[in-house]
Amino acid sequence: MVQSTLKDGATPLHVAIIMDGNGRWATRHGLSRSFGHRAGARAIPGVVRAAPNCGIGTLSLFAFSADNWGRPCAEVDELLALFQHFLEGEAARCRAEGVRLSIIGRRDRLPSSLCRAIHAAEQQSVDGRALHLRIAIDYSSRGSILEAARSYSGASVPTSASFAAALARADHSGAPLTAVDLLIRTGGEHRLSDFLLWESAYAELLFLPIAWPDFTDKDLTEAVAEFTRRERRFGALPPFGGTPPRIPGAQGAACRSI
Ligand code: IPE
Ligand code: IPE
Ligand code: MG
Repeated sequence: MVQSTLKDGATPLHVAIIMDGNGRWATRHGLSRSFGHRAGARAIPGVVRAAPNCGIGTLSLFAFSADNWGRPCAEVDELLALFQHFLEGEAARCRAEGVRLSIIGRRDRLPSSLCRAIHAAEQQSVDGRALHLRIAIDYSSRGSILEAARSYSGASVPTSASFAAALARADHSGAPLTAVDLLIRTGGEHRLSDFLLWESAYAELLFLPIAWPDFTDKDLTEAVAEFTRRERRFGALPPFGGTPPRIPGAQGAACRSI
């Protein structure tokens, strides 16, 4: 069993993962890219199951970016069908294991059958408290920020907390936004590719050469252990104690530093 490297009583972490490298993994193994995506989907449940024991309260996974529509139609269609299959297969398990599942991103460009699977999975798992699993599909962080900005009328002035709430609505997050503590990208690239830009303002970044289909619960444990060795300062001076300052007027830990 995966052991937590966090101290008892520590605030649950928000970990985000850019699950990259499926295509190159497949090519290296002489397989088609679609095989790589299926292998990538199979890697998810083990990581999700390990997350609560690693001290993770929110896990945000990047599955399909708004820019991924630019890929060949056949690959896009396969990915969308894979997401639907994944949601239909995993919703019951999420419910049984206390995992609340949310899909963040746009809904208006997704096939209606996928939207129905999203709705059903979210409804089925809504009471989950062990982990909030957020999967980003047709997601663009800049798009979400723009959408949140558009929701303000000329007279209203955004505050940090109200803008976070507008952003959560724009993302269909279904929960208040939390700051990302640790952002992991597999696959060897060193970029964010438009994922959770606002939420990651003070995230610790970890870029791993390992392809997503090879990522395991052990890699997640090691990533969290690496996170605990980092000194977070949030612009203040050390020693800081690892807990971000609370924003006056924000609603508890859920809104920390957003
Ligand atoms: C990540 O793997 C999955 C998606 C972006 C949908 P890639 O498909 O980007 O894999 P590489 O980067 O080409 O290896
Ligand atoms: C980022 O990977 C998106 C996902 C993992 C879903 P990409 O493969 O699309 O990113 P770039 O093109 O290398 O920046
Ligand atoms: Mg890629």
